[in-house]
Amino acid sequence: MPLSGQTVLLTGASMGIGEAIAKALAKEGANLILLSRSEDKLAKLKDDLLQQYNNIKVTYRTADVGNHEQVDAAIQSSIEELGPIDILINNASPAPTSYSHPNHPSSTNIPTQAGLALGAPNIFHALNITDIQTMISTNVNGPMYVTHSVLNRSMISRDSGTILNITSVTGLEVPPFPGETVYHSNKAAQEAFTNALRNELVGTGIRVLALRPGCVATNFHSLRVGHDREMYESFFEGYEPLVSEDIAQAAVYMLNQPPNVSIKALDVVPSAQRSLNVFDRKWNERLGK
Ligand SMILES: NC(=O)c1ccc[n+]([C@@H]2O[C@H](COP(=O)([O-])OP(=O)(O)OC[C@H]3O[C@@H](n4cnc5c(N)ncnc54)[C@H](OP(=O)(O)O)[C@@H]3O)[C@@H](O)[C@H]2O)c1
Repeated sequence: MPLSGQTVLLTGASMGIGEAIAKALAKEGANLILLSRSEDKLAKLKDDLLQQYNNIKVTYRTADVGNHEQVDAAIQSSIEELGPIDILINNASPAPTSYSHPNHPSSTNIPTQAGLALGAPNIFHALNITDIQTMISTNVNGPMYVTHSVLNRSMISRDSGTILNITSVTGLEVPPFPGETVYHSNKAAQEAFTNALRNELVGTGIRVLALRPGCVATNFHSLRVGHDREMYESFFEGYEPLVSEDIAQAAVYMLNQPPNVSIKALDVVPSAQRSLNVFDRKWNERLGK
């Protein structure tokens, strides 16, 4: 379905994958409602997009997706400004926390493996409860609150729309290593939400899709390792990770399908990432990079 003239609500739009999706959709001629917590970044992105594309409308709202009142007010006012929402992209997520409980001995003694455990070693019982709450609030409550509001304020009455949830390859591949329990559980919950909602919306024209990135070089991974440069670089050692634009292109591809076609789920990973923790660390060497 041509994206030109369609109105998209995009959460987590201020950086990383969200920012790249915003740019790719603007290029396609879509109108955008950008949502995250950072007003300065959203305002700059809005200005940049409007400077580059004069055929689209762009607005932004600051809200914490885990706060229902903020989310619903933001959606109500953005619909008043730009009209009904055709496409919702649930993308916002905090990086898995790398903080540990102050009374708990450092958890860096967990064996580091070749996959996502590297640099994100904190075990569940060593985490601060507030960090657990933030993760669940953003990753589980967030997509539900945003989706609930968009369905009720836009999609159900019009009997049409597309909901695209940015989940993760972790959502299906139960991680075979310790660490990041909350994040992995949250991503599995997003997969369940996506599938259950798709079924519940039978009899409507609303499509529900999941896009599952593998390793993408964004601020997300830097945050996971507490901005430790060495740990960050060792995570991507020997292979070429995806960049945000790769995921944005995949999102555009999914959203561009005609209404009778649902790409229900798409895994997009670096070719060197054969599964969650099987990486080809000789990739660059073999390809002479
Ligand atoms: N990078 C990867 O390798 C990777 C792999 C698999 C899946 N993913 C998924 O891809 C999505 C985007 O990740 P990314 O790598 O682009 O992350 P990122 O660079 O850290 O960006 C995260 C975005 O979420 C927003 N956000 C965080 N908490 C929020 C909250 N409570 N309310 C509203 N917005 C919030 C942030 O904006 P503010 O700070 O302005 O609020 C930011 O725009 C996430 O769902 C992530 O789980 C990423």
